[in-house]
Amino acid sequence: MTDTITIRRPDDWHVHLRDGDMLARVAPYSARQFARAIVMPNLKPPVTTVVAASAYRERIRAAAGSGFEPLMTAYLTDSIDPDELARGHAEGVWVAAKLYPAGATTNSDSGVTDIANIRPALQRMQDIGMVLCVHGEVTGEEVDVFDREAVFIDRILAPLVRDYPDLRIVLEHITTRDAAQFVAAAPATVAATITPQHMMLGRNALFAGGLRPHHYCLPVLKREEHRAAVRAAATSGSAKFFLGTDSAPHARADKESDCGCAGVFNAPFALEAYLQMFDEDGAIDRFEAFASLNGPAFYGLPPNEARITLARRPTGVPPEVDGLVPFLAGGMLDWALA
Ligand code: NCD
Ligand code: ZN
Repeated sequence: MTDTITIRRPDDWHVHLRDGDMLARVAPYSARQFARAIVMPNLKPPVTTVVAASAYRERIRAAAGSGFEPLMTAYLTDSIDPDELARGHAEGVWVAAKLYPAGATTNSDSGVTDIANIRPALQRMQDIGMVLCVHGEVTGEEVDVFDREAVFIDRILAPLVRDYPDLRIVLEHITTRDAAQFVAAAPATVAATITPQHMMLGRNALFAGGLRPHHYCLPVLKREEHRAAVRAAATSGSAKFFLGTDSAPHARADKESDCGCAGVFNAPFALEAYLQMFDEDGAIDRFEAFASLNGPAFYGLPPNEARITLARRPTGVPPEVDGLVPFLAGGMLDWALA
């Protein structure tokens, strides 16, 4: 039995670090586990300009300390200026741009109402090699909330992949077999990130013994067969799937509320949780590719030179971390980050 594993330092290819006091509280947890992170731009107001993105990057660097590199994203709106995207990309501020369908999730009100509105931006991104990160859910009351990812793939993503064959696209935080199969079968320009919660939990977890707001995130947890397919994709060894925690902290009162916010704060023990599942599935030898190699390769960045070691040692997840409720609060994990 493997009792320690040493791998290249991992990166988080999808995280919400927030701003202000919340940023100061949560950034050190990501910095402890990851060397770099793709930082989501869904602040209030959203990060739509190069000036705002550089200033946010400085605030993150100050909060996270040295040794952590934030990789910034632009928030796509109906009126986003392709020249602004290209300038931010050329200046090394923006690595990617994020498509939030308007109304799909937290702080997505300024998102895109119709893909037709961002065609010039997508064309420019394809031309300059800027990655598109996608929140893959349709909105609208006529589509059941559990079907929104699959419908998005049919209606929006498949045509996008056809129309922009050289645009690199990351389907973020996949939750369904439909998504896992689509990405596996798609050209090499298409990849996906996978969260620990979508590998570990099916939608029953939302109602286990009562309503469980700390398991609520978007896209919402799905039925068991989808969880199993997503987990199999993560541990498959395919270079198209890589680590993206989607750590999305909200104050406890905003989670435990009459209208609770979507988002799971998993940054404090993300690697321990992922590794436990790779171990359970007999796939420890594929963990480094998922956590540390596939993401940089897709984004065209070098893998990190530094190494980390995880040891098989029972680790308790505290019920609360800095006033926030972490993923698996009060539970035990089998691995510890040395
Ligand atoms: C995210 C957030 O809170 O910003 N919430 C979530 O449930 N994942 C937004 C998002 O990524 O959908
Ligand atoms: Zn997210």
